[in-house]
Amino acid sequence: MDSVLLDSLDRPLRDLRISVTDRCNFRCTYCMPAEIFGERYTFLPREEILTFEEIERLVCVMAPLGVRKLRITGGEPLLRHGLHELVRQLSAIEGVDDLALTTNGTLLERMAGQLRREGLGRLTVSLDSLDPEVFSRLNGGKLSLDRVLSGVEAAERAGFGSIKINCVVQKGVNDHTLLDLARHFKGSGHIVRFIEFMDVGTRNGWELGQVVPAAEILSQIEAEFPLEPLESSYPGEVARRWGYRDGEGEIGIITSVSNPFCGGCTRARLTTDGQLVTCLFASGGVDLRTPLREGASDDELRATISGIWSRRSDRYSEERTEGLGANRPDRVEMYQIGG
Ligand code: GTP
Ligand code: 5AD
Ligand code: SF4
Ligand code: SF4
Repeated sequence: MDSVLLDSLDRPLRDLRISVTDRCNFRCTYCMPAEIFGERYTFLPREEILTFEEIERLVCVMAPLGVRKLRITGGEPLLRHGLHELVRQLSAIEGVDDLALTTNGTLLERMAGQLRREGLGRLTVSLDSLDPEVFSRLNGGKLSLDRVLSGVEAAERAGFGSIKINCVVQKGVNDHTLLDLARHFKGSGHIVRFIEFMDVGTRNGWELGQVVPAAEILSQIEAEFPLEPLESSYPGEVARRWGYRDGEGEIGIITSVSNPFCGGCTRARLTTDGQLVTCLFASGGVDLRTPLREGASDDELRATISGIWSRRSDRYSEERTEGLGANRPDRVEMYQIGG
């Protein structure tokens, strides 16, 4: 049996979130605001992006260290050409028992069937509001809400069950439309998860005043639909689960600001250009692409990754709550690490 790799706060390495592109067809105000990510913005050139073979190799190196869960992210991961091939490669890796993907849903109509057939297990779709105006204001007015909803339907037809619908809640922006979203998916088998707006990256102008705390989100939903707390589905689950008392499913609330969950954080992130990042709020990562391309052996790569993880002491969200963490000036951006 492999020995368990623990970080300096005794947290195992269980999940790897893999960003496969830094591009997106949306311009969400809190992630890639259009004023910054305009036509002249330079995204990563192809040679700097990890190939599927390189990603596969790194996952094979990390699986013996404890990685069991993979989540493909972006930018918008479905923009990466031939993504279904990566899904096939990753789903075949021994030790990986959960393969999920987070998408904005706009390309699902075309791609859901193939992704399912190649072995994608679970899907999360980002959808911040069902009000078309609020929706387009939030994502830069690029593509229609209907397209996302058709994408969710296509995913259902392709056989994805319990799709998670992620809604980032911002005060005064979409917090008057939460109940609609809950109502729409209640009874569908899908799970809406409300995420407290976080200070990820340096470009979204985050202020504490824009956060709607979990307690308020909960009372809004409870006003119409009585809820009861549910047990976590697995240790270290990010969302707190709440079931509808009438048995028509559940919602989740991600309390990264009002009640951080760093104590159970088993997640590492791999950026599009091959850096290993150990916290969503880190100022950078460790470059794995260079040793990979310079011929490092599996054992050498594994030793590097073990070293990084065993020294890890990140607990940014808890530090923020304790008043220690805010305003770190050089955090990685959301579109580089996919949340
Ligand atoms: P499941 O595996 O289905 O439980 O999904 P997940 O919650 O791990 O993945 P998802 O990408 O849907 O995460 C939901 C949101 O929670 C992310 O988009 C982030 O906004 C937030 N989140 C996820 N991981 C972390 C984390 O490690 N730290 C913080 N602060 N927020 C996180
Ligand atoms: N705070 C909380 N969640 C965010 N996401 C993107 N930016 C933020 C933020 N500042 C969410 C997206 C997506 C997931 C990858 O992260 O909506 O669901
Ligand atoms: Fe694209 Fe997701 Fe960022 Fe929005 S939050 S710009 S959909 S990567
Ligand atoms: Fe993990 Fe960092 Fe998020 Fe805390 S803030 S849960 S350590 S990624």
